[in-house]
Amino acid sequence: MITRAARATYTCRDCGHSTPKWTGQCPRCEAWNSIDEKSPALSVPPVGSSRGGRAPVTHTPWTDVIEPVALNDISTAQRIRTATGLPELDRVLGGGFVPGSTVLLGGDPGIGKSTLLLQTAAGAAVTAGRVIYSTGEESPDQIKLRSDRLGLTREDLFVVPSGDVVSLGALADEFRPSLLIVDSIQTSWHSAVDGAPGSIGQVRQSAAELCAIARRTGAAVVLAGHVTKEGAIAGPKVLEHVVDVVLQMEGETGTPLRLLRGVKNRYGATDELGVFEMTGDGLRGVAEPSAMFLSQRQPGASGSAVATVIEGTRPLTIEVQALVTPTQSTSSRRTAAGYDPGRLHLLVAVISKRLKIPLGSQDVVVNIAGGLRISEPAADLAVALAIISSYMDVPVRDGLSASGEIGLGGELRAVHQAARRVGEATRLGFDLCLLPAGSADLGPAESAVVRAATLADAVRAALPVPGTAGERSR
Ligand code: TYD
Ligand code: MG
Repeated sequence: MITRAARATYTCRDCGHSTPKWTGQCPRCEAWNSIDEKSPALSVPPVGSSRGGRAPVTHTPWTDVIEPVALNDISTAQRIRTATGLPELDRVLGGGFVPGSTVLLGGDPGIGKSTLLLQTAAGAAVTAGRVIYSTGEESPDQIKLRSDRLGLTREDLFVVPSGDVVSLGALADEFRPSLLIVDSIQTSWHSAVDGAPGSIGQVRQSAAELCAIARRTGAAVVLAGHVTKEGAIAGPKVLEHVVDVVLQMEGETGTPLRLLRGVKNRYGATDELGVFEMTGDGLRGVAEPSAMFLSQRQPGASGSAVATVIEGTRPLTIEVQALVTPTQSTSSRRTAAGYDPGRLHLLVAVISKRLKIPLGSQDVVVNIAGGLRISEPAADLAVALAIISSYMDVPVRDGLSASGEIGLGGELRAVHQAARRVGEATRLGFDLCLLPAGSADLGPAESAVVRAATLADAVRAALPVPGTAGERSR
């Protein structure tokens, strides 16, 4: 007895989504022409198998025969992670590479992707064994020179100077690497697809093949990808859908700071930040990022304030700079680097309305020092203090760090993890932490804390000058 009629299903090559009908575009991942017809598998149950005297189950003709799996029976042994030997990378990955997963490392050309991957390859070869570094970008000579320059161990590290993903799959089947690095997806190509490497079809099919290699061999596969001017990782958006983890490497050319962020992570959080410094001997993890972000600060200058924020699991004490100058043209400008421009507009409106500071006729520029990008609203208070400090040309009280989200009424909203913020700031020599009145009581650490319920209160504590905006708004 055959319980399934001979009816085909259609499956997306890129994301595995099944549909009963053929369509030109996958409804889940939006890839075009990626739907293949799959002939139905026939399932033949043993004759007369009717458990407990019940009638045999008959399936609707074209549905799959599915079996539930008890959550208790699923082994997570294969989820043991491969440490990369680079703690800052492990942090962003959520503890190392997951075997069988695919990771995309994006970033501008020249930012340091190949450097990071070669260091990772050498590190993982030590902790997990055999690593293949395949490159369509550089020659084996260049890789060798770089590895010498970086002083890397070469044990169990193999270079493949090719971007042919089908051959790479055959090699991985036999060689069983713990980690397979592909530098880059734009120089990878699949022999079954027309078009030059880097074309959309090639990028998509190569990525799908590499994901299949990861699943099949249990190797973690890492792809490097250039980023286009628009900021999207080059190639179809589907590239981000097919991989398990997307990491983005950022930094400004000419400065040594390199930040690694999780954009997508099926096996961990995406808000972790890895901090590196590009040196003459490769990328070095920065153990003390706060000290690095504060290193250029000029104490006593107006327009500067210090914020303690939480990025991922880590507190960071950073400098916020602002410059407020009278507007010369018809409309005033607000510019933010490292801070959300929409939030800057909001803060300028709150300061103008609640503290009666006429910022409408002023240009306001805000910069997070060190090239950092801060998304936590707890940075609001320091941004507002830096703006007001610049407008009044009065420095913020020496040794003060501020954390607080500002509401539309000028009220300060409680921040989470207040104790860790105060701990980080005091460790770095800041003797006073300005916190919202509503944040948790810190017991003995309260001696280093001053509380404010509103922005006006905070200005009085941080910029204690008679006749200031804070005084006037009383
Ligand atoms: P690279 O890793 O080739 O960048 P990507 O693969 O993202 O294009 O890095 C290139 C830059 O890094 C290049 O400008 C030189 C610099 N660099 C160092 O400063 N120190 C080093 O030890 C290495 C290997 C590179
Ligand atoms: Mg490169």
